Amino acid sequence: MRKEITVHYNGNPCYEITLNETFDHLADDIFRAVGDTKTKKICIVSDSNVAKIYLNRVRAILEPQFCGFISFVFEAGEQSKNMDTVQKLYEQLIVNHFDRHDLLVALGGGVVGDLTGFGAATYLRGIDFIQIPTSLLAQVDSSIGGKTGVDFWQYKNMVGSFYQPRLVYMSTEVFHSLPDRQFAGGMAEEIKHGLIRDKAYYIWMRENRELILRKSPETLIDLLETGCNIKRVVVENDPKEKGERALLNFGHTIGHAIEKLSDFSLYHGECVSLGIVAASFLSMKKGNLTAEELHDIEDVLASYDLPVRTDGYDRNKILETSKSDKKMIGGKIKFTLLKNIGEAYSDLSLTDEDLLEAIEYVLCP
Ligand SMILES: NC(=O)c1ccc[n+]([C@@H]2O[C@H](COP(=O)([O-])OP(=O)(O)OC[C@H]3O[C@@H](n4cnc5c(N)ncnc54)[C@H](O)[C@@H]3O)[C@@H](O)[C@H]2O)c1
Ligand SMILES: [Zn+2]
Repeated sequence: MRKEITVHYNGNPCYEITLNETFDHLADDIFRAVGDTKTKKICIVSDSNVAKIYLNRVRAILEPQFCGFISFVFEAGEQSKNMDTVQKLYEQLIVNHFDRHDLLVALGGGVVGDLTGFGAATYLRGIDFIQIPTSLLAQVDSSIGGKTGVDFWQYKNMVGSFYQPRLVYMSTEVFHSLPDRQFAGGMAEEIKHGLIRDKAYYIWMRENRELILRKSPETLIDLLETGCNIKRVVVENDPKEKGERALLNFGHTIGHAIEKLSDFSLYHGECVSLGIVAASFLSMKKGNLTAEELHDIEDVLASYDLPVRTDGYDRNKILETSKSDKKMIGGKIKFTLLKNIGEAYSDLSLTDEDLLEAIEYVLCP
């Protein structure tokens, strides 16, 4: 089974996302996306974990198709997503005489994708790049929409650019090696997608948990197809994050605060799960969800091994950190809430007391 999704930018077709069970179509898809590969050099960027498992395979497929091949591998982890690593990448590209005609390929999770995209956006004022996302989070979230960037000092994603890939190639094969905890983190984003845009998808994930966790390629391609389409529609409507794209932040305001305070010992998706519980609680307080719906959301998250309660944090610190995020308008926090399951909106009416109550809800007694 194989599926294709076309992503538009400013109303015009911009790039394809292809959903595959293997890497078998990679060379053909790249050829379709960028044309005469035999006159181009290619640089595969990856991290130390993913390179160990997939670099040789991808190299064997792509090296014969290009006139030059190099790889650039950096230490896995968010701590590598910075300008030092980007500079080392530039250095490799310069030493190997890469010009504007050549191609970068991001083979890895969101860290590799964000960093490679930023390198591609800025090297020689922009060269083509392709995403081969290998984590569930990267497949349904970070590889789509053209947001690229790196962290600077302690500030996450402080330096970056909107820059679209030429192709996003996904293979469900990568889930054989992706750790379960990372897979669960990606499911938090998928559940978020269902909650903000598509009730039927949310219910499908609730009903098909076993099939999804069994990771059969057909089920995963169905999961990815709907999840990627939800992200696609939101970014097509709002490519530079001026409005609707903020809805993708559902669960992320309190989630990010917990992520920072946990010193990143909790994964992003785990914090998003806690943030979804808090935001759903607030949606219930507003009269938009019933208590049963709130509990159902918690049950679905928990069924994918995602946390729905945590402890060991100061509720005021979580509030303070949430407010120090950038989503403030006129002293009010901009918060994404649910109108109902499948529909989200931006709310500016929440008070500190409301937020503290929601934070309290996710902190264990
Ligand atoms: N650009 C965007 O729109 C956007 C959206 C969301 C998140 N992000 C960014 O994405 C990053 C998080 O992405 P992530 O969760 O993929 O993190 P990651 O890239 O660090 O990957 C998580 C871990 O899984 C490993 N891994 C990845 N694929 C694997 C596989 N198939 N088999 C075995 N191990 C594998 C990686 O080596 C890493 O250790 C953050 O930096 C975040 O800021 C960007
Ligand atoms: Zn997220």
